[in-house]
Amino acid sequence: MLTKAPKGTNDMLPDKSHIWQYLEDEIRKICKEYNFKEIRTPVFEHTELFERGVGDTTDVVQKEMYTFMDKGDRSITLRPEGTSPCARLYIEHGLFNIPQPAKLFYIISCYRYENKQAGRYREFHQFGAESLGSQEPSVDAELMSLAMLLYERIGLKNLKLNINSIGCPKCRSAYNEKLKEYLKPYYDNLCDTCKSRFDKNPLRILDCKSDICKGIVKDAPLLLDCICDECSDHFEKVKSYLEGMGIEYHIDPLIVRGLDYYTKTVFEIIADNKNSNSTICGGGRYDGLIEELGHAPTPATGFALGLERLILTMEEQGIEIPEPNDTEIFVASIGEDAAKFTQAITFGLRKEGIKAECDHLNRSVKAQMKFANKLNAKYTIVLGDDEINNKKAGLKCMENGEITEIDLDVKKIADALR
Ligand code: HAM
Repeated sequence: MLTKAPKGTNDMLPDKSHIWQYLEDEIRKICKEYNFKEIRTPVFEHTELFERGVGDTTDVVQKEMYTFMDKGDRSITLRPEGTSPCARLYIEHGLFNIPQPAKLFYIISCYRYENKQAGRYREFHQFGAESLGSQEPSVDAELMSLAMLLYERIGLKNLKLNINSIGCPKCRSAYNEKLKEYLKPYYDNLCDTCKSRFDKNPLRILDCKSDICKGIVKDAPLLLDCICDECSDHFEKVKSYLEGMGIEYHIDPLIVRGLDYYTKTVFEIIADNKNSNSTICGGGRYDGLIEELGHAPTPATGFALGLERLILTMEEQGIEIPEPNDTEIFVASIGEDAAKFTQAITFGLRKEGIKAECDHLNRSVKAQMKFANKLNAKYTIVLGDDEINNKKAGLKCMENGEITEIDLDVKKIADALR
C-alpha cells in the first residue's frame, strides 16, 4: 500500500513530462489565438454544486463522486468535471459584466469513482473551454473548430466529429412522454437506477452503461426527430457554420451525453484507434445551467477533452514528441576545491539562462564524462587546480571532440555557447 498509488490514478514520470508540457503549451497557444482566458478553480466544491449542475439522476452524481464531510460538517466533493465550477465562478465573480461571451479555459484534474479500464481513470485531466453569455450557433461551431484544430496541430488522424441536438426543456418534455411510452413495456427489465430515473429523468436511461438497458433503448424514438422549430433552426445554423469553416461532421442522433445540463447542440469527438474507439472530447450547449445555479438565465456552451485519452491516442497513432534538447554544458571538476568553483561557475551559467549541470556524487573525471554523455551534454569543460589558477580551460564540443581554449569567465563561456 505504502508504495502503490490508489487504483485509477497515474503518476507523471520524468520521461513523460515533456509530452504534458508540450500539450499544455499547444493548448495555451490555441486559446490565446481564440481569445480564451485561463481560469483555475478549487479541486473541491460544495457537493450541491454538482448535484444541481450535473444533475442528481446522472451516473456521475449517483455513482461516481468522491464526496465527504469536512471537519466543519459541510458536504464537499472533489470536482468530477469543470463546467459547473466554471459557471459558479462566472456568477460569483460577476463575469457577466465583462464583454460577452466570456471565453474561459482550464486545465484541471478531475475525480470520478469509475472502474479502471484503458482510458478511464479515477483521477484524470481535462482541458475545457467554455463560452458564456451568447446563444448564437456560431459559438457552438467556434468551440468545435478549436478542438478540431488543436487535434490537427498535434497530428491526430481518423477523428470523427459527431453532433446532435437534444432540444430545449420545452421540446424535451414532450419527448420524455414519448420515451416513457416506449419504455413502459420494458420497465421491469430496467436496472434499479433506471427504474428510479423513469419518472424523474427518463432521458438518462438512454446513456445507462448496463448492457440490458442498452439493449432496451436501442430502438427508442430519437430526440432529434422531436425537437421544436427554434432548436431545429439553431442546429441547422451550427451545421452551416461548420460547413463554412470546412469542418467535416456527422450527425449522431444517439448522443445524449451523460450530464444533465445540456440543451440544444451536443457533440463528441471520437478517435478511431486500431484497438478501440475512444471519446476524446465531449461538449455542448448548456443554456439552463447558470439559471439552475440561481443567476439570471444565461446561454453558454463548451467542451472538455481528456488529456490521458489524448496521450493514449497519440501513442496508438505513433505520434512522438521529441524530448527537448538536453544539457548545454556539463562542468566537470577534479578535486574538492575545484568542486566548489565548479558549482559557482554552473550557477553563473544558469543565471545567464544556460542549461548547465555538474556532479553531485563525487564521481571520478571518467565517470563524470560518462554521466555528461548520458545527459546528452553538447559541451563539457573540466576544471582542476591548473584551470582555476590559470583562469583558462578547454571547452569540448561533444559532437566532434574539438577543444577550444576559453577564459574561465561565465559571460565568455555563455557567449561561446550561444
Ligand atoms: P465528459 O464527457 O464527462 O464531459 O468528459 C469530457 C472528456 O473527459 C471525455 O470525453 C474524456 O475524454 C474525458 N474523461 C471523462 N471521464 C474520464 C475518465 N474517467 N478517465 C479519463 N478521461 C475521462 C464533461 O466533463 C463536460 N464538463 C464537458 C463540457 C464542457 N461540456 C460543456 N462544457
